[in-house]
Amino acid sequence: MTVIGTGYLGATHAACMAELGHEVRGVDVDEAKIERLRSGDVPFYEPGLEEILRRNLDNGRLRFSTDYREVAQFAHVHFLAVGTPQQRGSYAADLTYVRSVISDLVPLLEGSHLILGKSTVPVGTAAELQDLADLLAKENTKVEIAWNPEFLRESHGVEDTITPDRIVLGLRAGSEAEETVREVYASQLEANTPFIVTDRQTAELVKVAANSFLATKISFINAVAELCEISGADVKALADAIGYDDRIGRKFLGAGLGFGGGCLPKDIRAFMARAGELGADQALSFLREVDTINMRQRDRVVQFAREESGGNLLGTRITVLGAAFKPNSDDVRDSPALNVAGQLSLGGAAVSVYDPQAMANARREFPTLVYTDTVEGALEGAELVILATEWKIFRELDPERVAGLVAKPVIIDARNVLDARAWQDAGWRVRALGRSL
Ligand code: UDX
Repeated sequence: MTVIGTGYLGATHAACMAELGHEVRGVDVDEAKIERLRSGDVPFYEPGLEEILRRNLDNGRLRFSTDYREVAQFAHVHFLAVGTPQQRGSYAADLTYVRSVISDLVPLLEGSHLILGKSTVPVGTAAELQDLADLLAKENTKVEIAWNPEFLRESHGVEDTITPDRIVLGLRAGSEAEETVREVYASQLEANTPFIVTDRQTAELVKVAANSFLATKISFINAVAELCEISGADVKALADAIGYDDRIGRKFLGAGLGFGGGCLPKDIRAFMARAGELGADQALSFLREVDTINMRQRDRVVQFAREESGGNLLGTRITVLGAAFKPNSDDVRDSPALNVAGQLSLGGAAVSVYDPQAMANARREFPTLVYTDTVEGALEGAELVILATEWKIFRELDPERVAGLVAKPVIIDARNVLDARAWQDAGWRVRALGRSL
């Protein structure tokens, strides 16, 4: 099989499919990325991936190429794993990369081929790509486009691919591709992974619906957190209490700075945009509120910081702990942490940032912030500390020791992960979203 697009999703998928025993070719137009992957170097931070990549390069099951001609001949099953970012100046998904894979690959194919879309796309895309493929395919060549959405979480990419919680496959009427897909995922199916075979539209919608639900759950608890704060209640205890109801569940009720990353924000926007195109914008208008609540968390943390700086950020030395959009990742796409750091800096604060993995990406995005090599270096002389991404090393900071480094012991726990009492006992003034401490 081939995996086209070797970003977080594609590189992980390619390496894990090889790990499961398949012969895999990973393809990308980015020469530099392919060169790094060939040498066993993962171009991003994903725990456990490098080991699998190297093992399967060594045993020869996994190879990488930039040549579509070579991969067109190599396999009959092709995974489409390129990005579908938010379009500039609009909420809609940008399908340029998805379409260009079809126009570059399909004219080179001969015989019978199955293209399995993994990228998150607006409903109706698979059918559109099928029309394009039918137009471009050589005579006597059959190319089928099916949709097989990917649910992997960054930083858990390997386990989510090898042991997914479900496999979804969307096929056109009369398709015979299910058997092929059963072979691809034989080991997962043997382990009784739920396998939902449906039409292409449902498969496309499953992915955006899942991410929209997760985003809604986070914004729900963040909205309730605002009420908790005003009324003197505690959102963590509240989330624990409602989470015991297994219809609700405790996961994704972590109140704080909210969601970011390359998926949730752009997926809810693309879902709204597509609903509008289909004349159903009212059905999803609540997602605008989900988005607004989420963005407001960033402003609220900046407002806390302003209050702690005596009403004016100018010149205040602020340390932001975390730049990645979540822990165990180096991804800073739409990162709440970096957004807050950037806003504080634009407001005149002297901002120092530390992240265990995301420093290079953060520096590229926001070159004007000060980046320190160590967490201690970042904390030295701070008048305010903001915990913005809940990395383990931040959760485990010793409040007594840190109090000796900073100029003023004030911390905003924007992820609600610290033991507030222990920090207060060590002399800290602690603020958190959704808790009156
Ligand atoms: C998400 C989906 O979980 C995954 O299934 C899909 O394939 C891709 O999008 P990912 O973007 O890797 O995965 O991140 P996820 O772990 O879902 O976290 C998303 C964001 O929500 C992070 O910024 C995280 O900090 C935030 N979050 C998560 C909260 O603010 N509170 C929570 O309780 C949980």
